[in-house]
Amino acid sequence: MNKIKIAVFVSGGGTNLQALIDAQKRGEIKSGEITLVLSNSHTAYALERAKTAGIKGVVVTKKEEGSQEAFEEKVKAILKEEGIELIVLAGFMSILTKSFTDDYPERIINVHPALIPSFCGKGFYGLRVHEAALEKGVKVTGATVHFVNEIPDGGKIIMQKAVEVKEGDTPEILQKRVMEEAEWIILPRAAELVASELKGKVK
Ligand code: GAR
Repeated sequence: MNKIKIAVFVSGGGTNLQALIDAQKRGEIKSGEITLVLSNSHTAYALERAKTAGIKGVVVTKKEEGSQEAFEEKVKAILKEEGIELIVLAGFMSILTKSFTDDYPERIINVHPALIPSFCGKGFYGLRVHEAALEKGVKVTGATVHFVNEIPDGGKIIMQKAVEVKEGDTPEILQKRVMEEAEWIILPRAAELVASELKGKVK
């Protein structure tokens, strides 16, 4: 049976994209194949990672398209053209509206660097999540992979992994530990799980 075509959406460094590429190379993502990397920034280093891995990269920006609606329409057109069946948000720092998420029910997953429902929703992204966790004094944090709907970080949870907060942690140190011990592990696993479930459905 054909593999599920996966698009990975990125905005920055792309270490989670790298984790997905590496997992695919190791044969751990076998139900799907990353065939497209879509960035909303021309300068995202993730695009270099895609290029090195021989994966097609495209850039669509809200600024160039003129509005959120035009941005989403352009992205949808590209996804249709490429036959994409599963979208993985891996450090994608833009919120998708209901008009977009409704077109891909349980076909968009996202990695969030905290244990949802803590430190999530609007305004909680990247380093800010870890700053908030340290400010609160939590002793355990982690990462979550969840389905994406119109509510930021509001879709059903697929996988979570806890990570210890240590004395003297800075947001940067904690971010690195959460990535290494949780995000880079559960994102590829969740991508394979969802792709395998999609493959099980009528194609
Ligand atoms: C990751 O920690 C990811 O979980 C987070 O941004 C970072 C991107 O790093 N995403 C969010 O905060 C989304 N709400 P990367 O570009 O190296 O994968």
